[in-house]
Amino acid sequence: MNELQFKRHRRLRSNATIRAMVRETHVKVEDFIYPIFVVEGENIKNPIPSMPGVEQLSLDQLKTEMDEVVALGIKSVLLFGIPLVKDAVGSEAYHDHGIVQEATRLIKEGYPEVMVIADTCLCEYTDHGHCGVIEEGKILNDPSLDLLARTAVSQAKAGADIIAPSNMMDGFVAAIRKGLDEAGFEDIPIMSYAVKYASAFYGPFRDAAGSAPQFGDRKSYQMDPANRLEALREAQSDMEEGADFIIVKPSLSYLDIMRDVKNEFNVPVVAYNVSGEYSMVKAAAQNGWIDEKTIVLEILTSMKRAGADLIMTYHAKDAARWLAE
Ligand code: PBG
Repeated sequence: MNELQFKRHRRLRSNATIRAMVRETHVKVEDFIYPIFVVEGENIKNPIPSMPGVEQLSLDQLKTEMDEVVALGIKSVLLFGIPLVKDAVGSEAYHDHGIVQEATRLIKEGYPEVMVIADTCLCEYTDHGHCGVIEEGKILNDPSLDLLARTAVSQAKAGADIIAPSNMMDGFVAAIRKGLDEAGFEDIPIMSYAVKYASAFYGPFRDAAGSAPQFGDRKSYQMDPANRLEALREAQSDMEEGADFIIVKPSLSYLDIMRDVKNEFNVPVVAYNVSGEYSMVKAAAQNGWIDEKTIVLEILTSMKRAGADLIMTYHAKDAARWLAE
């Protein structure tokens, strides 16, 4: 009988040390961007039922949260604001003393080394819950751009280090870049939610941010989950308009898109591990159906392997703890 000829792949897996030597992808605490929901009011620490471990925090509670974040070695946070009053044009988004602006001041004062990334959108601030202004049931593109640019400038004035526009109006990077430059903020980078799908995975976030659309859906501005080439067109135009980072969102069902974007464009790629992805893991873990720690680290690794340089994730604090073990 002929001798069998085959390759022994198991040689490189035989013990933990050799596995570590040949490991191709590493998740580090420096990769994480931790989303925080800041709410107007006092003494508020509101748990989000669909996102165990995540809370809406008033400014007086933010210090404790930041102490924890910093102690864990997390270097950047992403701020979402929940205002007391909403109106048709989202005025609180660009109010110089709006909730995100005040949270930014507080963080930059107490923790100057932490990167504050401001989510720039209108949906948390409009009474109709859409990301742009509305006329006769239509979400208007160009009039929304002025408001977004105003929001970005006001966030930069408050000390935001990076502007992250998420509203998916066409031209938002161009409008925000122009607005920032004219206001003297040419050094503030734009982390664009260039590739953002109209996804059911945002469900729990809309509870957390109180930003569910009051009529219709976001399909006329966010992308169709069925499309791949469109993601490259979106990323391309944002690059031309001056994006410094490209976000792909959601992550888990879109790892193919993340890899495409990484291969195509020479900027840091950011994965947004969104609320619904987090909630699914939490729910299964609470039922004892999965091993949370191993699953979370596997998920975060898959995003890095798909090409993400940074990961926005609600798991950041837990993952930071696990990585330090
Ligand atoms: C605002 C915004 C959303 C998310 C981030 N920024 C919600 C949406 O577009 O409806 C979702 C984040 C998450 O699900 O964790 N436009």
